[in-house]
Amino acid sequence: MCGIVGYIGSKDAYPIILNGLKRLEYRGYDSAGICLYNNGKIASKKSKGQISKLEKKISKLKSFSGFMGIGHTRWATHGEPNDNNSHPHSSNSNELHIVHNGIIENYSSLKKELVDKGFVFYTDTDTEVLVNLIEYIQLKEKIKLGEAVQLALNYVVGAYAIAVIDIKKPDEIVVARLGSPLCIGIGDDEYFIGSDVTPFLDHTKNVIYLNDGEMAIIRNHKQTQYRKIKDDSFTNPTVEKLEIDLAKIQKGGFDHFMLKEIYEQPKAVIDTLRGRLKTKSGIIKMSGVDDYIDKFLAANKITIVACGTSWHAGLIAEYMFEKIAKIPVEVEYASEFRYRNPVINKSDIIIAISQSGETADTLAAIKLAKSSGAFVYGICNVVGSTISRETDAGSYTHAGPEIGVASTKAFTTQMTVLYLIAVKLSKSKGVISSKKYREYIYELSSIEKKITKVLGTDNKVKKIANKIKNSTNCLYLGRGYNFPVALEGALKLKEISYIHAEGYPAAEMKHGPIALIDKNMPSIVIATNKLYYDKILSNIQEIKSRKGKIIAIVFEGDKEISKIADETIEVPETIAALTPFVTTIPLQLLAYHIAVKLGKNVDQPRNLAKSVTVE
Ligand code: M6R
Repeated sequence: MCGIVGYIGSKDAYPIILNGLKRLEYRGYDSAGICLYNNGKIASKKSKGQISKLEKKISKLKSFSGFMGIGHTRWATHGEPNDNNSHPHSSNSNELHIVHNGIIENYSSLKKELVDKGFVFYTDTDTEVLVNLIEYIQLKEKIKLGEAVQLALNYVVGAYAIAVIDIKKPDEIVVARLGSPLCIGIGDDEYFIGSDVTPFLDHTKNVIYLNDGEMAIIRNHKQTQYRKIKDDSFTNPTVEKLEIDLAKIQKGGFDHFMLKEIYEQPKAVIDTLRGRLKTKSGIIKMSGVDDYIDKFLAANKITIVACGTSWHAGLIAEYMFEKIAKIPVEVEYASEFRYRNPVINKSDIIIAISQSGETADTLAAIKLAKSSGAFVYGICNVVGSTISRETDAGSYTHAGPEIGVASTKAFTTQMTVLYLIAVKLSKSKGVISSKKYREYIYELSSIEKKITKVLGTDNKVKKIANKIKNSTNCLYLGRGYNFPVALEGALKLKEISYIHAEGYPAAEMKHGPIALIDKNMPSIVIATNKLYYDKILSNIQEIKSRKGKIIAIVFEGDKEISKIADETIEVPETIAALTPFVTTIPLQLLAYHIAVKLGKNVDQPRNLAKSVTVE
């Protein structure tokens, strides 16, 4: 949530910061702002709304340039999204300027103290409090910016990634982080700052990921100082080499990132399997699991913690682990787990799933589990993310950057990793026959082709989208492995089209939701699982007899359901555990086309942000 960018060097900072903000817009788009230092003066421009609006405002200015600057794209927490509450924020003297991602929880008590000392506040934000606290300390103690930032942060409770500049120090940016991500791109005598690496990918491949509780005093033409915030010790971070290339964060001819990412799923699954699935020899190689196999085999229980779509992947994993590997599983919303005093035993394994690797609730759940002595395994997409560093071991999903706020390929690749682990453990535990094991491996190795085939239903799905786009409610039904898919389909529709949708296990429908059924309410029914076929058929009849519309997802060649459903989408047959791979994609496409037809901002839906780094 919120993206921050900074630059110090000898190039014009404005285009670097502006492009950087555009790359981070997925993190929040309530407002944006840029502040540049030029020749003893600060030029600052902010605007409610998307970065394009800010860009228009700035293009009217004659000269908006400088060699040092900071920028921000906001997902509002404190104070409504308006020009005034937009970042960067300045101190009362107008000498210090700050951009901030996170929440200062004790801001109101700090504000009160500062007001008593004569400070005046012009915005509703917690960030303005922080910049004035830094100023107060700097003036009182007569210390340099870096020291003042460090002291101020020791009074702060909350989460932050900040970049601060001081008009008196035109060659210095001070950055710090706790609970929100921040990295520094190291160029040739120039430095870039970003909430992630995308703002500076076209300038440098050398990056330092600042650790939680660390700060850096970045000085032009001088050695950067890295230190801990809590004490005066220096740190010596490693410079890592980035392997992402620029093309991966561009739309590549698609109208939206979401559509591009839906279409990338066959390749994303191949990338996830690369080096891990050896189909011929029947070996699943996952170093994160291999290195801790004793822990996995001794585990009494696996608890999966995650949020949103990643939580849905966790629910599917519950079916996979229990059915295939015979390990009891609980799946928890990270936000609930962290506060309900869960019973965590040392022999438990916690699996944390997160695309971004930065979700605040998931991170807090990990910290809680670790403090109870549990072994924590992370499944993340973003390389170098906080969760990937905080966990004891883990697997990357290798989906590549996911920019669209609605998660698509991250989900498919999370399922891939979870399936690999479940099948691998079933073999190590000796709870699977070699015939079944081979079948599981074979089916996985061919799933990418089936996903490609499902993408061929796009035109049909588009037509269905046109027919139901004006519905105000939709019901998504599935059973077994496809109950979480129903939840995921409903979430996709809600978040990008703003149509209310609910996912239910099909059999639960008659315990309440059936009351909603009428001719205006479509039900999207996932009817692929053979085990439940007849039962789902009965559920469909129950909806039809109440004049409800049915859109059914069925296996190719289906006879029965196709006769009674209003619309059917056929997907290639696979084993039950892998059906979510083929049934999710039509639901992603359906949500996408409905949102496009309704004229919604698909990649940046209202009120949302890609990574939720606040509670
Ligand atoms: O980065 P994470 O996987 O931890 O994010 C979790 C959720 O915020 C995320 O899946 C969210 O629900 C998506 N917008 C769903 O499409």
